[in-house]
Amino acid sequence: MTIPQPAAVIVLAAGAGTRMKSSLPKVLHPICGRTLVHHALLAAQSISPRHVVAVVHHDKEAVSAHIAQATPEVMIAEQKVLNGTGSAVRDALEALEGEHGELQGTIVVTYGDVPLIDQAALNGLLAQHTEQGNHITVLTIVLDQPGAYGRILRDSDGSVAGIREFKDCTPEQAAIQEINSGIYAFEAAVLREHLPNLDANNAQGEFYLTDVLGLARSVGQKIGGNIVADSFVAEGVNDRVQLATLGEEMNRRILEGHMRAGVTIVDPNTTWIDAGVSIGPDSRILPGTQLHGASTLGARVTIGPDTTLADVEIGDGAEVIRTHGSLAVIGPDASVGPFAYLRPGTQLGAKGKIGTYVETKNAIIGEGAKVPHLTYVGDAEIGPGANIGAGSIFANYDGVTKSRTTIGAEARVGSKSVLVAPVTVGAGAYTGAGTIVRQDVPPGSLAVTVAQQRNSEGWVAAKRPGTSSAQAAAEAANPAPEASA
Ligand code: UD1
Ligand code: CA
Repeated sequence: MTIPQPAAVIVLAAGAGTRMKSSLPKVLHPICGRTLVHHALLAAQSISPRHVVAVVHHDKEAVSAHIAQATPEVMIAEQKVLNGTGSAVRDALEALEGEHGELQGTIVVTYGDVPLIDQAALNGLLAQHTEQGNHITVLTIVLDQPGAYGRILRDSDGSVAGIREFKDCTPEQAAIQEINSGIYAFEAAVLREHLPNLDANNAQGEFYLTDVLGLARSVGQKIGGNIVADSFVAEGVNDRVQLATLGEEMNRRILEGHMRAGVTIVDPNTTWIDAGVSIGPDSRILPGTQLHGASTLGARVTIGPDTTLADVEIGDGAEVIRTHGSLAVIGPDASVGPFAYLRPGTQLGAKGKIGTYVETKNAIIGEGAKVPHLTYVGDAEIGPGANIGAGSIFANYDGVTKSRTTIGAEARVGSKSVLVAPVTVGAGAYTGAGTIVRQDVPPGSLAVTVAQQRNSEGWVAAKRPGTSSAQAAAEAANPAPEASA
């Protein structure tokens, strides 16, 4: 059976979110690298409706600006008065039809604070709606603790008769365990027919979308209930406890997807991977790793343990150990860490190395080049095959401006060199240990700035008599005869 393309998805996001106790609007809180409303809108788009509309009211400037940036195709409708889900859908439909004319077909309603709703659940709802030829189908869940959710009223023949809000329930109705998820498929004509007839004669004085079911029922329209076993798909975020619970569950699902696609995740309990991250097959993610944003990892990479990367691109076969990095590119078969800090603009070439206690920023490091130990590389280009000695500093900042350093191919920068930018070390050139490079070094030259070494013989005996050093020196000068057999 083919499911006809839905006319629209209406995503309700007008509520206040008071229980978050936050200056940030509830739907703008993130889990797994995206805001709640972004997850909800991507799910809406995943079923390819003709239109998606988000209903906003509370913090509408911030929420609208975010939606315009995250999903520019989504239409934004303002709910004029925040007085119930029925009025929210009415305002959305009015805005949609004002722009596109009368809609034909199915309209799906979801919530902006329900982040785990997905394509499979929405398609399941639409499939049942279409198969049964329903006017309305509501997605329902059976819960041991049905809490304050609206209860699904069913007739003796099992058909859905309506939804009763918990606050309006009799004790018998409150005992019903099948609840309204708040996610529905409506025929557009059914909404047009009944939304104008909602009233607010209920415990909360609101226009309930749920009352559309009773009105439809009273004129003989067909209502179905699509029971889903996976309660997470319809769970909303009301406070930060639920934010953490749903974040953890979404992360679990993301990790499972990667594992099923051929990625080893040694410890799912300490691994966090954002929704937008891609990882090639046969990669290994070690404990304590967090991969954020739009990071893309190639095949056969090893990441971790204890590594946090955001918006990083990693080539096939690379290895990144105990590293913190953002907006960096790591070439194939390159190696990074342990204890490296890759700041934005770092680009490490194929088979290159950024080693232990190295910080890089705006640095292009060529193929096979190595920065193995204790170094700061800022605003630099290092040629292929070059080696930067331990403890070297690229002094890119003169207190006022930042300048660039260029190191040629196969150059050898001696340990503890200071490269005072702007400066160039030519291809194949060397700098001696401890050199302060203030002038360009021509290709193939050796640069040294160190003064001649002078040894004051007997200095320790004269100036530090009686110390353990003096004693060791005396013993070295006059070794005790070896014990003979
Ligand atoms: C609603 C349902 C209830 C269902 C529950 C599932 C109604 C009358 N009740 O109850 O049957 O079990 O969801 O979570 O629909 N919103 C607006 N504008 C409004 C009011 C709400 O956009 O005027 C949005 C909120 O931002 C939220 C969603 O609609 O995303 C649900 O609102 P909420 O107040 O949480 O509804 P409930 O009373 O929980
Ligand atoms: Ca709610």
